[in-house]
Amino acid sequence: MRYNFDEVVNRNNTDSRKWGTLEEIYGTTDILPMWVADMDFKSADEIIEALKKRAEHGVFGYTWEQDSFYDSIIKWVKRRHNWNIKKEWILFTPGVVMGLNLGVRELVKEGEKVLIQSPVYPPFYRVIENNNRIVNLNPLKDTGEKFVMDYEDLEQKIDKDTKLMMICNPHNPVGRVWTREELIRLGDICIKNEIVIISDEIHSDFILKGHTHVPLASISKELEERTITLMAPSKTFNIAGLATSVAIIPNEELRNAYEKAIEVMEIGNTTIFGNVGFEAAYNHGEEWLDELLIYIEDNIDYAMEYINRNIPEIKVYRPDGTYLLWLNFRGLNKSPEEINEALIKIGKVGLNEGSPYGKEGEGFFRLNIGCARSILEEGLRRIEKAVKSL
Ligand SMILES: Cc1ncc(COP(=O)(O)O)c(C=O)c1O
Repeated sequence: MRYNFDEVVNRNNTDSRKWGTLEEIYGTTDILPMWVADMDFKSADEIIEALKKRAEHGVFGYTWEQDSFYDSIIKWVKRRHNWNIKKEWILFTPGVVMGLNLGVRELVKEGEKVLIQSPVYPPFYRVIENNNRIVNLNPLKDTGEKFVMDYEDLEQKIDKDTKLMMICNPHNPVGRVWTREELIRLGDICIKNEIVIISDEIHSDFILKGHTHVPLASISKELEERTITLMAPSKTFNIAGLATSVAIIPNEELRNAYEKAIEVMEIGNTTIFGNVGFEAAYNHGEEWLDELLIYIEDNIDYAMEYINRNIPEIKVYRPDGTYLLWLNFRGLNKSPEEINEALIKIGKVGLNEGSPYGKEGEGFFRLNIGCARSILEEGLRRIEKAVKSL
Protein backbone atom coordinates (compact mmCIF):
# COMPACT_ATOMS: atom_id res chain seq x y z
CA MET A 1 0.00 0.00 0.00
CA ARG A 2 1.33 3.42 -0.93
CA TYR A 3 -0.94 5.37 1.44
CA ASN A 4 -1.10 5.04 5.20
CA PHE A 5 -4.74 5.36 6.24
CA ASP A 6 -3.81 4.25 9.77
CA GLU A 7 -2.22 7.64 10.35
CA VAL A 8 -4.25 9.67 12.86
CA VAL A 9 -4.36 13.27 11.67
CA ASN A 10 -5.02 15.82 14.41
CA ARG A 11 -7.91 17.92 13.10
CA ASN A 12 -8.32 20.09 16.19
CA ASN A 13 -7.99 23.83 15.45
CA THR A 14 -8.16 23.29 11.69
CA ASP A 15 -11.61 24.86 11.19
CA SER A 16 -13.09 21.38 10.89
CA ARG A 17 -16.83 21.43 11.47
CA LYS A 18 -16.75 17.78 12.56
CA TRP A 19 -14.10 18.35 15.25
CA GLY A 20 -14.53 22.05 16.02
CA THR A 21 -18.23 22.37 16.88
CA LEU A 22 -18.53 19.71 19.57
CA GLU A 23 -19.51 22.16 22.31
CA GLU A 24 -22.28 23.52 20.12
CA ILE A 25 -23.59 20.13 18.97
CA TYR A 26 -23.00 17.91 22.00
CA GLY A 27 -22.66 20.47 24.81
CA THR A 28 -19.11 19.35 25.65
CA THR A 29 -15.76 19.08 23.93
CA ASP A 30 -14.57 15.69 25.26
CA ILE A 31 -16.37 13.81 22.49
CA LEU A 32 -14.97 11.57 19.79
CA PRO A 33 -16.73 12.88 16.67
CA MET A 34 -18.06 10.22 14.30
CA TRP A 35 -20.86 12.25 12.81
CA VAL A 36 -20.79 14.64 9.80
CA ALA A 37 -19.87 12.86 6.55
CA ASP A 38 -16.30 13.85 5.97
CA MET A 39 -13.43 11.49 6.55
CA ASP A 40 -10.46 11.99 8.86
CA PHE A 41 -7.94 10.90 6.22
CA LYS A 42 -5.51 13.19 4.46
CA SER A 43 -6.48 13.65 0.84
CA ALA A 44 -4.36 12.17 -1.97
CA ASP A 45 -0.78 13.52 -2.22
CA GLU A 46 -1.45 14.47 -5.83
CA ILE A 47 -4.28 16.78 -4.75
CA ILE A 48 -2.30 18.30 -1.88
CA GLU A 49 0.68 18.94 -4.19
CA ALA A 50 -1.50 20.53 -6.88
CA LEU A 51 -3.09 22.87 -4.31
CA LYS A 52 0.31 23.77 -2.80
CA LYS A 53 1.74 24.51 -6.20
CA ARG A 54 -1.16 26.78 -7.02
CA ALA A 55 -0.94 28.48 -3.60
CA GLU A 56 2.72 29.27 -4.24
CA HIS A 57 1.78 31.34 -7.27
CA GLY A 58 0.27 33.82 -4.85
CA VAL A 59 -2.35 35.47 -7.06
CA PHE A 60 -5.87 34.17 -6.59
CA GLY A 61 -8.11 36.14 -8.89
CA TYR A 62 -11.35 35.17 -10.60
CA THR A 63 -11.35 32.01 -12.64
CA TRP A 64 -13.60 29.89 -14.85
CA GLU A 65 -14.05 26.25 -15.84
CA GLN A 66 -11.73 25.44 -18.68
CA ASP A 67 -11.81 22.42 -21.01
CA SER A 68 -9.56 20.53 -18.60
CA PHE A 69 -12.23 20.82 -15.87
CA TYR A 70 -14.86 19.15 -18.04
CA ASP A 71 -12.39 16.68 -19.44
CA SER A 72 -11.44 15.44 -15.96
CA ILE A 73 -14.99 14.51 -14.99
CA ILE A 74 -15.95 13.17 -18.42
CA LYS A 75 -13.07 10.70 -18.24
CA TRP A 76 -13.73 9.83 -14.60
CA VAL A 77 -17.40 9.07 -15.17
CA LYS A 78 -16.52 6.93 -18.19
CA ARG A 79 -13.75 5.02 -16.38
CA ARG A 80 -15.47 4.52 -13.04
CA HIS A 81 -19.14 4.39 -14.00
CA ASN A 82 -19.15 3.48 -17.68
CA TRP A 83 -21.29 6.44 -18.64
CA ASN A 84 -20.49 8.67 -21.61
CA ILE A 85 -21.25 12.28 -20.80
CA LYS A 86 -20.74 15.37 -22.92
CA LYS A 87 -19.13 18.66 -22.03
CA GLU A 88 -22.25 20.68 -22.80
CA TRP A 89 -24.30 18.63 -20.32
CA ILE A 90 -22.14 19.71 -17.37
CA LEU A 91 -22.83 22.74 -15.19
CA PHE A 92 -20.71 23.81 -12.25
CA THR A 93 -22.50 24.05 -8.89
CA PRO A 94 -20.94 25.26 -5.63
CA GLY A 95 -21.87 22.09 -3.72
CA VAL A 96 -24.33 19.26 -4.24
CA VAL A 97 -26.87 20.61 -1.75
CA MET A 98 -26.94 23.81 -3.78
CA GLY A 99 -27.49 21.56 -6.79
CA LEU A 100 -30.58 20.08 -5.11
CA ASN A 101 -31.76 23.54 -4.13
CA LEU A 102 -31.46 24.89 -7.67
CA GLY A 103 -33.49 21.99 -9.05
CA VAL A 104 -36.29 22.49 -6.53
CA ARG A 105 -36.43 26.24 -7.12
CA GLU A 106 -36.45 25.99 -10.89
CA LEU A 107 -38.52 22.89 -11.60
CA VAL A 108 -41.18 23.04 -8.90
CA LYS A 109 -43.52 25.93 -8.11
CA GLU A 110 -44.38 27.04 -4.58
CA GLY A 111 -47.03 24.71 -3.19
CA GLU A 112 -46.06 21.83 -5.51
CA LYS A 113 -44.63 18.56 -4.25
CA VAL A 114 -41.27 16.80 -4.33
CA LEU A 115 -40.89 13.07 -3.65
CA ILE A 116 -38.08 11.88 -1.40
CA GLN A 117 -37.34 8.49 0.14
CA SER A 118 -37.02 8.65 3.91
CA PRO A 119 -34.97 8.18 5.97
CA VAL A 120 -32.76 10.50 3.97
CA TYR A 121 -29.98 13.08 4.29
CA PRO A 122 -31.68 16.01 6.10
CA PRO A 123 -30.97 18.76 3.51
CA PHE A 124 -33.35 16.88 1.17
CA TYR A 125 -36.16 18.13 3.44
CA ARG A 126 -34.69 21.57 3.90
CA VAL A 127 -34.32 22.45 0.22
CA ILE A 128 -38.00 21.62 -0.26
CA GLU A 129 -39.48 23.18 2.88
CA ASN A 130 -37.31 26.30 2.98
CA ASN A 131 -38.42 27.08 -0.57
CA ASN A 132 -42.12 26.66 0.34
CA ARG A 133 -42.47 23.49 -1.69
CA ILE A 134 -44.08 20.38 -0.18
CA VAL A 135 -42.37 17.16 0.87
CA ASN A 136 -44.08 14.07 -0.56
CA LEU A 137 -42.68 11.11 1.39
CA ASN A 138 -42.11 7.70 -0.13
CA PRO A 139 -40.47 5.90 2.82
CA LEU A 140 -38.08 3.02 2.22
CA LYS A 141 -39.19 -0.41 3.45
CA ASP A 142 -37.15 -2.42 5.93
CA THR A 143 -37.37 -6.08 4.87
CA GLY A 144 -35.47 -7.30 7.94
CA GLU A 145 -32.40 -7.82 5.76
CA LYS A 146 -32.06 -4.52 3.95
CA PHE A 147 -33.87 -1.34 2.94
CA VAL A 148 -35.76 -1.39 -0.37
CA MET A 149 -37.89 1.04 -2.35
CA ASP A 150 -41.67 0.88 -1.95
CA TYR A 151 -43.02 1.16 -5.50
CA GLU A 152 -46.70 0.64 -4.59
CA ASP A 153 -46.50 3.50 -2.11
CA LEU A 154 -44.71 5.62 -4.71
CA GLU A 155 -47.48 5.14 -7.29
CA GLN A 156 -50.10 6.01 -4.70
CA LYS A 157 -48.31 9.15 -3.55
CA ILE A 158 -47.97 10.70 -7.00
CA ASP A 159 -50.64 13.27 -7.76
CA LYS A 160 -51.06 16.22 -10.13
CA ASP A 161 -48.94 18.47 -7.89
CA THR A 162 -45.97 16.09 -7.79
CA LYS A 163 -43.35 17.36 -10.24
CA LEU A 164 -40.00 16.14 -9.03
CA MET A 165 -38.38 13.20 -7.28
CA MET A 166 -35.00 13.45 -5.55
CA ILE A 167 -33.22 10.15 -5.04
CA CYS A 168 -30.00 9.43 -3.21
CA ASN A 169 -27.78 6.81 -4.88
CA PRO A 170 -25.93 5.37 -3.03
CA HIS A 171 -28.37 6.15 -0.29
CA ASN A 172 -27.32 8.20 2.72
CA PRO A 173 -27.94 6.99 5.44
CA VAL A 174 -29.04 3.40 4.68
CA GLY A 175 -26.03 2.59 2.47
CA ARG A 176 -27.92 0.94 -0.37
CA VAL A 177 -26.41 1.07 -3.86
CA TRP A 178 -29.57 0.84 -5.94
CA THR A 179 -29.42 -1.95 -8.51
CA ARG A 180 -30.18 -1.49 -12.19
CA GLU A 181 -33.47 -3.38 -11.71
CA GLU A 182 -34.54 -1.19 -8.79
CA LEU A 183 -33.69 1.97 -10.72
CA ILE A 184 -35.54 0.78 -13.84
CA ARG A 185 -38.68 0.15 -11.79
CA LEU A 186 -38.46 3.55 -10.16
CA GLY A 187 -37.64 5.17 -13.51
CA ASP A 188 -40.63 3.58 -15.23
CA ILE A 189 -42.98 5.07 -12.65
CA CYS A 190 -41.42 8.52 -13.07
CA ILE A 191 -41.55 8.30 -16.87
CA LYS A 192 -45.21 7.23 -16.80
CA ASN A 193 -46.09 10.15 -14.53
CA GLU A 194 -43.82 12.71 -16.24
CA ILE A 195 -41.76 13.34 -13.15
CA VAL A 196 -38.29 14.81 -13.38
CA ILE A 197 -35.66 13.12 -11.21
CA ILE A 198 -32.66 14.59 -9.46
CA SER A 199 -30.23 11.80 -8.69
CA ASP A 200 -27.77 12.76 -5.96
CA GLU A 201 -24.79 10.52 -6.73
CA ILE A 202 -22.25 12.19 -4.45
CA HIS A 203 -21.44 8.84 -2.78
CA SER A 204 -21.11 6.95 -6.08
CA ASP A 205 -17.37 6.40 -5.77
CA PHE A 206 -17.80 4.49 -2.50
CA ILE A 207 -18.99 1.16 -3.79
CA LEU A 208 -18.14 -1.98 -1.85
CA LYS A 209 -17.21 -5.34 -3.35
CA GLY A 210 -20.00 -7.14 -5.15
CA HIS A 211 -21.92 -3.95 -5.99
CA THR A 212 -21.92 -1.63 -8.98
CA HIS A 213 -23.02 1.96 -9.17
CA VAL A 214 -25.44 2.57 -12.02
CA PRO A 215 -25.96 6.25 -12.86
CA LEU A 216 -29.72 6.53 -13.27
CA ALA A 217 -29.38 8.61 -16.44
CA SER A 218 -27.13 5.99 -18.06
CA ILE A 219 -29.90 3.37 -18.09
CA SER A 220 -31.91 4.58 -21.09
CA LYS A 221 -32.50 7.51 -23.39
CA GLU A 222 -35.82 8.16 -21.66
CA LEU A 223 -34.19 8.39 -18.25
CA GLU A 224 -31.32 10.46 -19.63
CA GLU A 225 -33.94 12.95 -20.82
CA ARG A 226 -35.55 13.44 -17.41
CA THR A 227 -32.64 13.10 -15.00
CA ILE A 228 -30.37 15.68 -13.42
CA THR A 229 -27.33 13.91 -11.96
CA LEU A 230 -25.34 15.54 -9.19
CA MET A 231 -21.74 14.43 -8.73
CA ALA A 232 -18.63 15.72 -6.97
CA PRO A 233 -15.13 14.68 -5.93
CA SER A 234 -15.82 16.12 -2.47
CA LYS A 235 -16.78 12.99 -0.50
CA THR A 236 -14.57 10.75 -2.59
CA PHE A 237 -11.31 12.60 -1.98
CA ASN A 238 -12.16 14.36 1.29
CA ILE A 239 -12.20 17.82 -0.30
CA ALA A 240 -15.75 18.88 0.64
CA GLY A 241 -14.36 22.19 1.90
CA LEU A 242 -13.50 23.11 -1.71
CA ALA A 243 -17.25 23.21 -2.53
CA THR A 244 -16.94 22.27 -6.19
CA SER A 245 -19.45 19.96 -7.82
CA VAL A 246 -21.45 19.52 -11.00
CA ALA A 247 -24.93 18.93 -12.33
CA ILE A 248 -25.03 16.73 -15.43
CA ILE A 249 -28.12 17.50 -17.51
CA PRO A 250 -28.42 15.95 -20.98
CA ASN A 251 -31.88 17.40 -21.71
CA GLU A 252 -31.38 20.87 -23.21
CA GLU A 253 -34.63 22.33 -21.99
CA LEU A 254 -34.03 21.17 -18.41
CA ARG A 255 -30.44 22.35 -18.61
CA ASN A 256 -31.42 25.81 -19.80
CA ALA A 257 -33.91 26.14 -16.97
CA TYR A 258 -31.33 25.00 -14.43
CA GLU A 259 -28.71 27.34 -15.87
CA LYS A 260 -31.15 30.20 -15.55
CA ALA A 261 -31.50 29.44 -11.84
CA ILE A 262 -27.68 29.52 -11.53
CA GLU A 263 -27.60 32.90 -13.28
CA VAL A 264 -30.41 34.36 -11.19
CA MET A 265 -28.52 33.49 -8.03
CA GLU A 266 -25.14 34.56 -9.48
CA ILE A 267 -23.42 31.40 -8.28
CA GLY A 268 -21.87 30.18 -11.50
CA ASN A 269 -18.26 30.98 -10.62
CA THR A 270 -15.79 28.33 -9.65
CA THR A 271 -12.87 29.11 -7.36
CA ILE A 272 -9.16 28.70 -8.01
CA PHE A 273 -8.68 26.01 -5.35
CA GLY A 274 -11.96 24.34 -6.23
CA ASN A 275 -10.87 23.96 -9.84
CA VAL A 276 -7.40 22.74 -8.97
CA GLY A 277 -8.67 20.21 -6.41
CA PHE A 278 -11.42 18.96 -8.71
CA GLU A 279 -9.11 18.32 -11.65
CA ALA A 280 -6.26 16.85 -9.60
CA ALA A 281 -8.71 14.50 -7.88
CA TYR A 282 -10.30 13.16 -11.03
CA ASN A 283 -7.07 13.07 -13.05
CA HIS A 284 -4.64 11.76 -10.45
CA GLY A 285 -6.57 10.44 -7.44
CA GLU A 286 -7.52 7.00 -8.65
CA GLU A 287 -4.75 5.00 -7.02
CA TRP A 288 -5.42 6.69 -3.67
CA LEU A 289 -9.13 5.94 -3.99
CA ASP A 290 -8.60 2.29 -4.83
CA GLU A 291 -6.46 1.89 -1.72
CA LEU A 292 -8.94 3.84 0.36
CA LEU A 293 -11.79 1.59 -0.72
CA ILE A 294 -9.91 -1.44 0.59
CA TYR A 295 -9.42 0.34 3.92
CA ILE A 296 -13.08 1.42 4.11
CA GLU A 297 -14.24 -2.11 3.35
CA ASP A 298 -12.00 -3.46 6.14
CA ASN A 299 -13.34 -0.81 8.52
CA ILE A 300 -16.89 -1.85 7.67
CA ASP A 301 -16.06 -5.52 8.24
CA TYR A 302 -14.43 -4.65 11.54
CA ALA A 303 -17.36 -2.52 12.72
CA MET A 304 -19.99 -5.07 11.64
CA GLU A 305 -18.18 -7.85 13.44
CA TYR A 306 -17.60 -5.77 16.56
CA ILE A 307 -21.22 -4.72 16.79
CA ASN A 308 -22.62 -8.18 16.11
CA ARG A 309 -20.32 -9.78 18.66
CA ASN A 310 -20.20 -7.17 21.44
CA ILE A 311 -23.25 -4.95 21.03
CA PRO A 312 -26.02 -7.25 19.73
CA GLU A 313 -28.54 -4.74 21.11
CA ILE A 314 -27.75 -2.71 17.96
CA LYS A 315 -29.01 -4.03 14.64
CA VAL A 316 -27.12 -3.02 11.49
CA TYR A 317 -27.17 -4.06 7.82
CA ARG A 318 -23.91 -4.21 5.92
CA PRO A 319 -23.97 -1.23 3.50
CA ASP A 320 -23.44 -1.76 -0.25
CA GLY A 321 -21.61 1.57 -0.42
CA THR A 322 -20.74 4.83 1.45
CA TYR A 323 -18.68 4.99 4.65
CA LEU A 324 -21.74 5.28 6.85
CA LEU A 325 -23.42 2.72 9.08
CA TRP A 326 -27.07 3.12 9.97
CA LEU A 327 -27.37 1.75 13.49
CA ASN A 328 -30.75 0.61 14.76
CA PHE A 329 -31.07 1.09 18.55
CA ARG A 330 -34.81 0.43 18.67
CA GLY A 331 -34.36 -2.93 20.38
CA LEU A 332 -33.25 -1.06 23.50
CA ASN A 333 -36.72 0.45 23.95
CA LYS A 334 -35.27 3.78 24.93
CA SER A 335 -36.07 7.22 23.53
CA PRO A 336 -33.63 8.82 21.07
CA GLU A 337 -32.92 11.42 23.77
CA GLU A 338 -32.00 8.77 26.34
CA ILE A 339 -29.75 6.97 23.85
CA ASN A 340 -28.10 10.19 22.74
CA GLU A 341 -27.50 11.21 26.33
CA ALA A 342 -25.81 7.88 27.06
CA LEU A 343 -23.68 8.19 23.91
CA ILE A 344 -22.60 11.71 24.85
CA LYS A 345 -22.31 11.51 28.64
CA ILE A 346 -21.22 7.90 29.17
CA GLY A 347 -19.66 6.89 25.85
CA LYS A 348 -18.36 10.35 24.98
CA VAL A 349 -18.91 9.67 21.31
CA GLY A 350 -20.76 11.87 18.80
CA LEU A 351 -23.04 10.21 16.23
CA ASN A 352 -25.81 11.69 14.06
CA GLU A 353 -29.17 11.16 15.76
CA GLY A 354 -31.62 9.65 13.27
CA SER A 355 -34.77 11.76 13.57
CA PRO A 356 -33.62 14.62 11.26
CA TYR A 357 -33.53 11.94 8.53
CA GLY A 358 -37.30 11.53 8.97
CA LYS A 359 -39.73 9.74 11.28
CA GLU A 360 -38.30 6.45 10.01
CA GLY A 361 -34.94 7.48 11.47
CA GLU A 362 -36.14 7.66 15.07
CA GLY A 363 -34.22 5.19 17.20
CA PHE A 364 -31.40 5.07 14.62
CA PHE A 365 -28.00 6.75 14.75
CA ARG A 366 -25.55 7.23 11.87
CA LEU A 367 -21.93 6.24 12.40
CA ASN A 368 -19.16 7.55 10.14
CA ILE A 369 -16.40 4.92 9.79
CA GLY A 370 -14.21 7.09 7.49
CA CYS A 371 -11.36 7.25 9.99
CA ALA A 372 -8.20 5.42 11.08
CA ARG A 373 -8.85 1.94 12.46
CA SER A 374 -7.62 2.95 15.93
CA ILE A 375 -10.23 5.73 16.06
CA LEU A 376 -12.93 3.35 14.89
CA GLU A 377 -11.95 0.83 17.57
CA GLU A 378 -12.10 3.53 20.21
CA GLY A 379 -15.44 4.80 18.90
CA LEU A 380 -16.99 1.33 18.97
CA ARG A 381 -15.76 0.75 22.53
CA ARG A 382 -17.40 4.02 23.52
CA ILE A 383 -20.68 3.09 21.84
CA GLU A 384 -20.58 -0.28 23.61
CA LYS A 385 -20.03 1.41 26.98
CA ALA A 386 -22.99 3.72 26.37
CA VAL A 387 -25.30 0.89 25.31
CA LYS A 388 -24.38 -1.29 28.29
CA SER A 389 -25.28 1.59 30.61
CA LEU A 390 -28.87 1.72 29.34
C1 LIG B 1 -26.37 12.61 -0.14
C2 LIG B 1 -25.55 13.83 0.07
N1 LIG B 1 -25.69 14.89 -0.76
C3 LIG B 1 -24.97 16.01 -0.59
C4 LIG B 1 -24.06 16.13 0.43
C5 LIG B 1 -23.30 17.39 0.63
O1 LIG B 1 -22.84 17.89 -0.55
P1 LIG B 1 -22.13 19.31 -0.65
O2 LIG B 1 -21.22 19.42 0.52
O3 LIG B 1 -21.43 19.26 -1.96
O4 LIG B 1 -23.22 20.33 -0.63
C6 LIG B 1 -23.88 15.06 1.31
C7 LIG B 1 -22.95 15.19 2.45
O5 LIG B 1 -22.98 14.46 3.41
C8 LIG B 1 -24.64 13.89 1.12
O6 LIG B 1 -24.49 12.83 1.93
